[in-house]
Amino acid sequence: MWRLAWVSLTVLLGAVAAGVYWSYDGFDPGSLRGATVVITGCSSGIGEQMAYQYARLGAKILITARRENRLKEVVAKAKSLGAQEAHYVAGDMGKAEDCERTIQRAREKFGRLDYLVLNHVGSSRPKLQEKLLSGTAWDQDPDIDTDYFVDFLNVNLVSYVRLASLALPLLKEGSGRIVVISSIGGKIPFPGNVMTYYCSAKFALDGFFSSLRVEVMKAQQDVSVTLVILGAIKTQNIIDYVKNENIVKSAAPVDEAAMAIVRGGATRAREVYYPSYTWPITLLRALLPQVLDNIVINNT
Ligand SMILES: NC(=O)c1ccc[n+]([C@@H]2O[C@H](COP(=O)([O-])OP(=O)(O)OC[C@H]3O[C@@H](n4cnc5c(N)ncnc54)[C@H](OP(=O)(O)O)[C@@H]3O)[C@@H](O)[C@H]2O)c1
Repeated sequence: MWRLAWVSLTVLLGAVAAGVYWSYDGFDPGSLRGATVVITGCSSGIGEQMAYQYARLGAKILITARRENRLKEVVAKAKSLGAQEAHYVAGDMGKAEDCERTIQRAREKFGRLDYLVLNHVGSSRPKLQEKLLSGTAWDQDPDIDTDYFVDFLNVNLVSYVRLASLALPLLKEGSGRIVVISSIGGKIPFPGNVMTYYCSAKFALDGFFSSLRVEVMKAQQDVSVTLVILGAIKTQNIIDYVKNENIVKSAAPVDEAAMAIVRGGATRAREVYYPSYTWPITLLRALLPQVLDNIVINNT
């Protein structure tokens, strides 16, 4: 009886100690006051909420997306929440000149750059949402075409690399941070036409930015790279386009997701897993890929 009580107490204390250890990340909210931050994809969803979280902490932000009317609203709200400065660039990140304009504007407005947060997701082609709704397999998609795929990779992969390359000189000047928003779809495979495109872009982001991380470390340059692996987050897109009600119901709150990303960037975390279930799923693929494949097949 006493032995059982001791074992239970030891296990409980061990669990509490592990919880405290894992949740302590050394985050100092004051470190964001006056920090200069460029965030892409801020006219809706997680990007919009990140703009508000950085604003509440007193950062200077420059946000981008294509819908100028929405960007104006987000800038106004960010200022009312406490942003020291808030600016926007309306542009298509699939276009090289708009990426250049974004980093150039940051240089003009701030003179330095502490954070580059790469978050946008989309396509220049009109049919993306129809494709999401259809849910057809990649090889059965009637208008499957390589141009569509090239466009998707241009917006969701090439532009990330382009923006990081343009910003790197500024980031190097001031021990900056690159924060890349990826997904569980960048660590494990999913079937379906759009998901194959999406996984291609997100897996490739891991490849490029993990390589960049070791490159800057090898060169002893003080720039950190944080890769963020997100599970389902309750944005309007998830509510509108995901058919599985359980996924929609259990999706994590968007403001909490945004804060987890802000914390991860500030503490220079190597990778951020949010919600936490994304980490064991990633681990399962590394250890037992066939088991993971079967789980995906039976649940999608
Ligand atoms: N929501 C989730 O459950 C979830 C899960 C895993 C990972 N993620 C990742 O989290 C990030 C944000 O996703 P979200 O759900 O917040 O998406 P969202 O609500 O659709 O927002 C996407 C943002 O990207 C912008 N955008 C799209 N195409 C663009 C382009 N060509 N040029 C410039 N901006 C463009 C959109 O603005 P405009 O249309 O105005 O240009 C919008 O502001 C993405 O990287 C996504 O992969 C999300």
